[in-house]
Amino acid sequence: MAWLLTGGAGYIGSHIVQAFLAADREVVVLDDLSSGFREFVPAGVTLHEGKLEDPADVARALDAQPVEGVVHLGGLKYAGESPRVPLDYYRVNVEGTRVLLEQMAARGVDRLVFSSSSATYGTMEGEIVAEDAPKRPESPYGESKLIGEWLIRDQAVARPELKHTSLRYFNVVGSGPVRDTGDGGVLALVDHSPYNLFPLVFRALSRGARPKVFGDDYPTPDGSCVRDYVHVVDLAEAHLRAAVQLDEGTELAAAYNVGRGEGVSVRQIIETILSVVGEEALGYDVAPRRAGDPAKIVGSARRIEEDFGWKPGLDLRAMVEGAWEAWNAPGTAEREAAQDARRAQG
Ligand SMILES: NC(=O)c1ccc[n+]([C@@H]2O[C@H](COP(=O)([O-])OP(=O)(O)OC[C@H]3O[C@@H](n4cnc5c(N)ncnc54)[C@H](O)[C@@H]3O)[C@@H](O)[C@H]2O)c1
Repeated sequence: MAWLLTGGAGYIGSHIVQAFLAADREVVVLDDLSSGFREFVPAGVTLHEGKLEDPADVARALDAQPVEGVVHLGGLKYAGESPRVPLDYYRVNVEGTRVLLEQMAARGVDRLVFSSSSATYGTMEGEIVAEDAPKRPESPYGESKLIGEWLIRDQAVARPELKHTSLRYFNVVGSGPVRDTGDGGVLALVDHSPYNLFPLVFRALSRGARPKVFGDDYPTPDGSCVRDYVHVVDLAEAHLRAAVQLDEGTELAAAYNVGRGEGVSVRQIIETILSVVGEEALGYDVAPRRAGDPAKIVGSARRIEEDFGWKPGLDLRAMVEGAWEAWNAPGTAEREAAQDARRAQG
C-alpha cells in the first residue's frame, strides 16, 4: 500500500519521496505543479496532477491505488507574501486540508502527517520555543497552518480512528545528494523559493553580486536575525519515522518541532556560504529589515527526540555544501527561469 504525498513535487516533498523510496516504501504524489517540478518526482513514482482544494482531484489520487496514509505538504508557504493574498492562503492551506480530510474519511484512510510550521508561534518568548508555547501567528500563512492543525485535531475527535501528527518545521535548507537519473541525466533537488535565504544568496553569488543581510539592528548578538536551520534530509527522515510509527500503531503527540534547537544568525550563514564557495573577499551588504521577520526563532526538538529517537545529524556546513552543489548542477538554471516565468504569470 502506498503513502500519498501531497506537494511531493516540491522542495521538501521530493526529499521525502527519496526517504520513503530508500526505506522501500511505496509513494505516490498529488501536486498541481504550481511551485513544484515534474522532474522532482522520480521515474516509477506516480504523479497525480491536481489541486488539493478540488475534491475530484483528491478523490482521483486516493482511488488510483490503495493508500494507507498521507503526508500533507502541498500548499502555499510564504509568510511575507500571505498578507497581500490572504484568501489564496486560506483557500489552498485551509480549504485544501479540509477537502483532504473529508476525502480521506470517505475512504477510511486514517494516517496523516501534516506539514506545519514554526510560523504558528509568532514572535517567541524566552530563548527556545517548545510545542506548548502560546501560538500567536503573525501572518495569514502562519494562521493557515495553525488552522490546519485544528482541523486535524477536531476531525480526530469526530473520527478517533484518524491517527496523526503535525511536524512544525523551523528553517529548512540544504539539498540531498545530486542523483544520477539512470538515463544520462542528474536530479538536483533545489529550493527555488524567491524569498528564502539560501537561494537569495546563491542567486547573488551566481551574478557575482554581494549577498544582502536584511537588517543589522535586531536585538541579537550580531544584530542580524537568528533562526533554527534544519537540513532537509534530516527533516525527510523525521517524516519517514512518523509514518512508520503511525503504521505500527504508536500514538504520537499532536505536534512536534523539527529543528536543531540551535540559533544561527543570518550573518553566520552568509559567512559560511562565502567560505564554502571561496568568496570571503566578496563580503556582503546590509539592507533594511524586511517586514514580518521576527528577530529570533529557535525551537526545542526535545519532544521529537524522546518520542521518535530523531536527532538532526547534518550541520551548517553540510547544509551549505549540499545546497551549493545542487544549485550548480545541470537543470537548476532552467528551473529558476521556469519559476520566474510562473510567478510573472501570477
Ligand atoms: N521551506 C521551509 O522552510 C518550510 C518551513 C515550514 C513549513 N514548510 C511547509 O512545508 C511544505 C512544503 O514546502 P516546500 O518548501 O517544499 O515548498 P514548495 O513550494 O517547494 O512545495 C509545495 C508543493 O505544493 C504544491 N502545491 C501548491 N499548491 C497546491 C495545490 N493547491 N494543490 C496541490 N499542490 C499544491 C506545489 O506545486 C509544490 O510542489 C509547505 O506546506 C510549507 O508550508 C516549509
